[in-house]
Amino acid sequence: MTSELRHILVLHGPNLNLLGLREPEVYGSTTLETINERLHALAATRNATLRIVQSNHEGVLIDALHEAREWAHGVLINPGALTHTSIALRDAISAVALPCVEVHLSNIYRRESFRQHSYISGVAVGVISGFGWRSYMLGLLALLDWLDER
Ligand code: DQA
Repeated sequence: MTSELRHILVLHGPNLNLLGLREPEVYGSTTLETINERLHALAATRNATLRIVQSNHEGVLIDALHEAREWAHGVLINPGALTHTSIALRDAISAVALPCVEVHLSNIYRRESFRQHSYISGVAVGVISGFGWRSYMLGLLALLDWLDER
């Protein structure tokens, strides 16, 4: 069965541009560029296209979500530390009403207590956390499967 063509917005939040260099014992040694290449390759096998945005600025991520209303079928997001702080990002996801899968490289539930609450999870279809770079791949597959069932 060939899936319908899907357009997905991928958002990477603050500090994820430093992946590979940043605390590799927590986040792994794979760079963001490599993760993005792997995501594009995976998307191609599933008849999906990706627009990928990384920003260290909350408002840029929110603007990208607003624009995605016009063209995207779903959102894959690693909000970084905004996960634990940003009601504005959560509201943007609710406002655009696009299905959203939240991913984290690390397992946020076995880390410091301040990381164990996510403002985003309550408006996400689901969450994948703890599988390193593979969290993104699992998240993309989960989002595309979820869309196929709609
Ligand atoms: C993260 C977890 C967050 O707590 C942290 O602030 C990040 C990365 C992860 O992918 O594991 O920046 O979202």
